[in-house]
Amino acid sequence: MTYHAKISQVAHYLPDQVVTNEELSRIMETSDDWIRSRTGIRERRISKDEQTSDLATVVAEKLLAQSGLSALDIDFIILATITPDSMMPSTAARVQANIGASKAFAFDVTAACSGFVFALATAEKLLASGVYQKGLVIGAEVLSKTLDWEDRSTAVLFGDGAGGVLLELDDQRHFLRESLHTDGTRGQALESGYQGLHSPYSDFQSSHLALKMDGRAVFDFAIRDVVASLKDLLSEVNLTPDEVDYFLLHQANNRMLDKMARKLAVPREKLPANMMAYGNTSAASIPILLSECVEKGMIELGSGQKLILSGFGGGLTWGVLLVSI
Ligand code: ACO
Repeated sequence: MTYHAKISQVAHYLPDQVVTNEELSRIMETSDDWIRSRTGIRERRISKDEQTSDLATVVAEKLLAQSGLSALDIDFIILATITPDSMMPSTAARVQANIGASKAFAFDVTAACSGFVFALATAEKLLASGVYQKGLVIGAEVLSKTLDWEDRSTAVLFGDGAGGVLLELDDQRHFLRESLHTDGTRGQALESGYQGLHSPYSDFQSSHLALKMDGRAVFDFAIRDVVASLKDLLSEVNLTPDEVDYFLLHQANNRMLDKMARKLAVPREKLPANMMAYGNTSAASIPILLSECVEKGMIELGSGQKLILSGFGGGLTWGVLLVSI
């Protein structure tokens, strides 16, 4: 017997507080014009007091309500984040407790902006094993708490939010191909710290805590390596980029998406974007975008439309999934 996974529900949630470029230009030397022209971003959501688990819990509750399932029906929760509430318990364990999914095992995945794609690829294998029937896969971030608000080169780029999917068993194959990558030798292009406590027996230096990024290096990596992986994956399954309905790519920079569309030789409309309103929400960006596209009727669950989901960022990591939705 072959077991297949399908995405049966999608949902997202964003904190209420909107912070515009204009507002940022009052606290740092930047301008709406610079941010918009370089990135496309106009505003972002910033959590006032909600942690990553709070955002993810709302998404999990929406997924359950939409499906009519009880939390007790859920076998596992995988949560992708680089801004966990704590190292332990995991943010996924907090969500499991919050929704009362007492039969589910839960863990976090740390793969920066590729986190959701890596988590979804992992979850699909859990269902394909035939051991599990239903799982939640969520990307959630409160990046605002890891930013150096005096560093204009990063502070203007990121935002907070959460999105996720319910995965269930199905008799059709929906996950058609994947390609997941890491290049740790280029890891210093994107770093975010972790503060260990002082020990009398070791001499670890406390690292730079706030997120820092070599933006140009990451931009070039996305255009070169990610596009190459996208093209390779499509040629492996004898599809042309044109035959893909939508490319749901990580939402870092609108100019980057323009370039990627040109390199793939597809109309820009095939690469939907929402970073204008939310900035870069790292592991949350792809599920938020997917959920919005479903809400707008561009993507219909169960329709068989062909989607590429692709995340790329810290690690360096990048991943591509071809899904028949
Ligand atoms: N406002 C005004 N000026 C600024 C700002 C700002 N907010 N930030 C930087 N500048 C200045 C710089 O100081 C520099 O000035 P200088 O030339 O006098 O030194 C100038 O603007 C140009 O800076 P660049 O870094 O060359 O700008 P660039 O065109 O490369 O755009 C950006 C920067 C937007 C960060 C771009 O490189 C980018 O999007 N990179 C990719 C980011 C990405 O994809 N991240 C994904 C992964 S995120 C994750 O994994 C968590």
